[in-house]
Amino acid sequence: MQLVIDSANIEKIKYLQEYFPIDGVTTNPTIIVKEKKPFLPLLQEIRDIIGNEKELFVQTVGSQAEEMVKEAQFINKELSGNIIVKIPVTTEGIKAIKLLKEQGIRTLATTVYTPMSAYVAAKAGAEYVAPYVNRIDNLTGNGIQVVKDIVTIFKQHELSCKLLGASFGNVQQIQQVCLAGAEGITAAPELIEAMLTIPSVDANVQQFKDDWLALYGKGAINLMETK
Ligand code: G3P
Repeated sequence: MQLVIDSANIEKIKYLQEYFPIDGVTTNPTIIVKEKKPFLPLLQEIRDIIGNEKELFVQTVGSQAEEMVKEAQFINKELSGNIIVKIPVTTEGIKAIKLLKEQGIRTLATTVYTPMSAYVAAKAGAEYVAPYVNRIDNLTGNGIQVVKDIVTIFKQHELSCKLLGASFGNVQQIQQVCLAGAEGITAAPELIEAMLTIPSVDANVQQFKDDWLALYGKGAINLMETK
C-alpha cells in the first residue's frame, strides 16, 4: 500500500521524506503554482529529494489528446527517474491515455468521480486511477463507496490498474480507503502528519520517561546513560 505526498512544497517533502515511509510525490497544476517557482526546476528538486526510484506524478495542462501526449513526452524527456503522467478523465484524456500506453509512457487517470470513469481509464491503459474522495463527498456523493466500487470492478474484471486514493479532508477518509483495498493513497503533508498526531501517545511516552528517571535519576536520559 503506497503512501504518497500530495504537494510540491520542498520543505514539507524534505521533512516527510526524512521521517515517514514515503513512496512518491503527486502534483497537479494548482499544487505547483502555489510554490510560485519555475515548474521544471521545482520538479527536478523534488526528484533530487526523493531519488530516482520513487514515483513522481506530473499532470498535463493541455486540453487536446495530442497536446497531452506531447506534454507527457516532454516531461519524460526533461525529468529523470520514475515518472507517471497524470491525465484528467475527459474524452480527450482517455484518448491520450490510449496513445501513451502504445508508447510505453505510464499514466494515472486523475479527476475520477465515478466508477465508470475509472473503468474506462483502466481499459484505456492507465496504470493508476485517482478517485477524488473528499471532492466527491463535498458534492454529497460517497467517496468511499466510489473507491469500493472501483476496487470491486477492477477485481471482478481482472483489470490490472491500481487505485491511488486522492483528495482527502481527514484521516478517517484515508483509513476507509485503506480498508477498501486501495493500492495507495496520496495526501497533503498535514494529513500524513496527522496520522501520527495522537495526544495519548505523547502522554504515554512522557509517563514511561518519568517512571524511568524517578528510579534511575535525572541523568538516565536513555538506556546507555542509565547506571
Ligand atoms: O491529488 C488530488 C488532489 O490534489 C486534489 O485534492 O485536496 O485539492 O481536493 P484536493
